[in-house]
Amino acid sequence: MYSQINSVGLFGLNAFPVTAEASSSAGQPSFDIVGMPDVAVQESRSRIKAALAHMELNYLLNGKVTVNLAPASVKKIGSMFDLPITVALMKLGGVIECELCNDVFIGEISLNGSLAPINGALSMTLTAAASGAKRIFLPKQNAKEASVADGIEVYGVEHLSQLITFLKNGSGLTPEEPYTPSESALLHTADFAEVMGQQSAKAAIETAAAGSHNILMLGPPGSGKSMLAKRIPSIMPRITFAESIETTQIHSIAGMIDPAEPLVTRRPFRAVSHTASAVGLIGGGSIPRPGEISLAHNGVLFLDELPEFDRKVLETLRQPLENGEINISRASGSACYPCDVMLVAAMNPCPCGNFGNPAKKCRCTPQQVSGYLNKISQPVLDRIDIQIEVKPVEYSDLSHRTPQESSAAIAERIQKARDIQAKRFAGTGIKSNSGITSDIIAEVCRLTPDAEDMMRRAFEKLGMSARAYDRILKVARTCADLAASDDITKDHIAQAISYRSLDRKYWNR
Ligand SMILES: Nc1ncnc2c1ncn2[C@@H]1O[C@H](COP(=O)(O)OP(=O)(O)OP(=O)(O)O)[C@@H](O)[C@H]1O
Ligand SMILES: [Mg+2]
Ligand SMILES: [Zn+2]
Repeated sequence: MYSQINSVGLFGLNAFPVTAEASSSAGQPSFDIVGMPDVAVQESRSRIKAALAHMELNYLLNGKVTVNLAPASVKKIGSMFDLPITVALMKLGGVIECELCNDVFIGEISLNGSLAPINGALSMTLTAAASGAKRIFLPKQNAKEASVADGIEVYGVEHLSQLITFLKNGSGLTPEEPYTPSESALLHTADFAEVMGQQSAKAAIETAAAGSHNILMLGPPGSGKSMLAKRIPSIMPRITFAESIETTQIHSIAGMIDPAEPLVTRRPFRAVSHTASAVGLIGGGSIPRPGEISLAHNGVLFLDELPEFDRKVLETLRQPLENGEINISRASGSACYPCDVMLVAAMNPCPCGNFGNPAKKCRCTPQQVSGYLNKISQPVLDRIDIQIEVKPVEYSDLSHRTPQESSAAIAERIQKARDIQAKRFAGTGIKSNSGITSDIIAEVCRLTPDAEDMMRRAFEKLGMSARAYDRILKVARTCADLAASDDITKDHIAQAISYRSLDRKYWNR
């Protein structure tokens, strides 16, 4: 006797069709699962046994039962095969007789036969739909998330008994309504209107967001660095549906989806503490999980107190920041997670925080100050185009509480600058000015003669490196785009140079 049921497996973000085949023959009762199952899959035997016993279906395991998860050459990881294996057994034993070749099943089963939620439901549902399946049955808690996928009916199931009834006589379950987020789910809760004053910091942040440049803010405690950082997603272009799906899949694999609002509809903001490990930051583990940088995909990765980070941990960010994706290789296979982020970092100027503050006295020795700044890895600093000082907010700005420009107004200018960039880079694979490569920099960053002159003088006077020169050009390109100017003028160069002021003041470069 033989039966087969469609399912989907998952490794990293990569979902793939799996067939659960069951066969039984007379003989000493046994229950084997083959097809490269990992520990969680092996354990599904115990869960299934208990659930079937609970439902008085234990006779299904009376014979010599073998389950194969095909293709047998690919490792199967996770608890999502509980359901397809159980359905295959029920089909084998005649509990269910209908044709199920257009149906896909995924889900973990509890000992009492109820279905428990799984991670990665959206990725698996997308794959099920792409494979041509018409319906997918999965745990109720995953149904809303899965309903985001097009072209497949999603059935959320609470208990095996419910599923049996439905498959026998078509009653008791209805397909999930495709989820559409509410208007409020699209709105950012923090707004730049709440940040008083700080015009120059806001202008630098606007430039950073407009060109997707990484930014470092250096300033004393309480100057509002965290407050500013948190509001950056609210001025970035609205997340597109495709980006939403990408980011949701990553959050889903990490088990971070809210079943009630399962789609990530805002650009993520992930604040990472300096105690984070390399695995926490870039991902890893024996079954590779996404790290913070991938959870921030299409949004902001915020590293607060940058010098406090372990240098080695920080350096693991280099490649992922460069490539916008991270490959994690393990014995079990290799997973690739995207991580296209805007990096925002913040730091105090010294251990006590007061260095460079005219109003307060720094208690640190010069060695402590330079030691603090030098703790940051140079290759990481090299990837931060804009580096600014954030001064303490002025008393008059705070006390007057005059209305400040809203995030929406800033976002509008940024969108226009992004539109210019989209046109410029059409077909090149480059997304924004931060991604300008050296082979096209001369072509896309044309300077007026004045600007050329200023750049030459600055280069000589400030002893700029070639790398710093390129960075200034890219940022100046963004300043020009914000001003809808084809050519880069003197003003744009001056602005871009001012966004490198930390080099000389703090790093002596
Ligand atoms: N420009 C501002 N307008 C309104 N409130 C502000 C402003 N700057 C700071 N604040 C207030 O001060 C608080 C502290 O700011 P925030 O935590 O962002 O400072 P920080 O620079 O990150 O400090 P730290 O270095 O200690 O992390 C904010 O939560 C906010 O209430
Ligand atoms: Mg802070
Ligand atoms: Zn100090």
